[in-house]
Amino acid sequence: LRTAVEQGRALHRRAAELFFRCLREDTRARQAREYLSRRGLSDTVTVAFGLGYSPPGWDFLTERLVREGYAPEELEQFGLIVPRQGADGYYDRFRNRIMFPIFDAQGRPVAFGGRVLDDEIPKYLNSPETPLYKKGQHLYGLHKAGPAIREKGIAILVEGYMDVIACHQHDIPQAVASLGTAMTPEQGRLLLRYAPRVLICYDADRAGIEATVKAGEILTRLGAQIQVLTLPDGKDPDEFLQKHGASSFWQMADNAPAFFSFCYSRVASQYDLTTVAGKVAAVRELAPQLLIIPSAIEQEANIQWLAREIRLSEAAIMEELRGLSRNTK
Ligand code: GTP
Ligand code: MN
Ligand code: MN
Ligand code: MN
Ligand code: MN
Repeated sequence: LRTAVEQGRALHRRAAELFFRCLREDTRARQAREYLSRRGLSDTVTVAFGLGYSPPGWDFLTERLVREGYAPEELEQFGLIVPRQGADGYYDRFRNRIMFPIFDAQGRPVAFGGRVLDDEIPKYLNSPETPLYKKGQHLYGLHKAGPAIREKGIAILVEGYMDVIACHQHDIPQAVASLGTAMTPEQGRLLLRYAPRVLICYDADRAGIEATVKAGEILTRLGAQIQVLTLPDGKDPDEFLQKHGASSFWQMADNAPAFFSFCYSRVASQYDLTTVAGKVAAVRELAPQLLIIPSAIEQEANIQWLAREIRLSEAAIMEELRGLSRNTK
């Protein structure tokens, strides 16, 4: 007797295969194929990431998988189909979407993300949580990026499916995505099993910058060495690479500041650091980021750096931090 989890794996393998074949062969997938080539995806990466297509209509997957002997209840349990409201039967969750299988670290598909071909919302629809898939525990692309991350000693953290795939297409195989919701401590721990250094390259928009601060704090607590690459003109890695290519990307990456220095720049633009009041406010705002650094040595190195930048003594900053950490305990 197969366990629910094994059965779910078989189901996802089969569903991924059906979506994949549909994208490549089905006449209904013409627009999807055009969409992907318009976005500049090579056939090689499309195949490498197992991209597929779920056609319009309500029963592409339901009909085939039930015919192959899968129970509808099982398909429902794994989020691939949805029971009809006030009627018998089920319909496909994913319709008329480009399908991105989400793989576990061993490369087995455990969930799906589906993208519309236009500006409809939701832009991406994801599998719900299932016995195979818990949100915030997987990193998209890790099964492909893992060896490269180990080899280079650094991971590149991006936001989305297309960013990971564009990185691979441009020979940047160490990219993984946290998928929208800012990264979780579980994802951080998973990533740091592969390398101690992370280059965060989220979208250069407001949401991306806020998510960078959150991810940076989580990774700092876990003891990571973090740099932040902010791309120009609000772009994301996919758009940047398609337009400027990998060598421009690496040039920017070489100059990417450390996470703490990135935080300092943000704060420095908010306050007048030539005044005492501005310095006090800036140090207070940066204090949490210093206090969460687990290594006393690294914490001190950052305090030294800050003292020089902001023109204060280390002792004064230390004193301020001690006061703040007392008040929060
Ligand atoms: P493209 O427009 O295809 O280039 O997507 P993107 O990755 O640039 O999208 P965006 O920067 O808006 O979002 C980053 C990631 O967040 C996406 O890759 C998805 O994983 C996730 N995401 C974005 N929009 C949605 C949504 O409407 N629903 C869900 N569940 N996830 C989303
Ligand atoms: Mn974004
Ligand atoms: Mn984006
Ligand atoms: Mn994008
Ligand atoms: Mn290109």
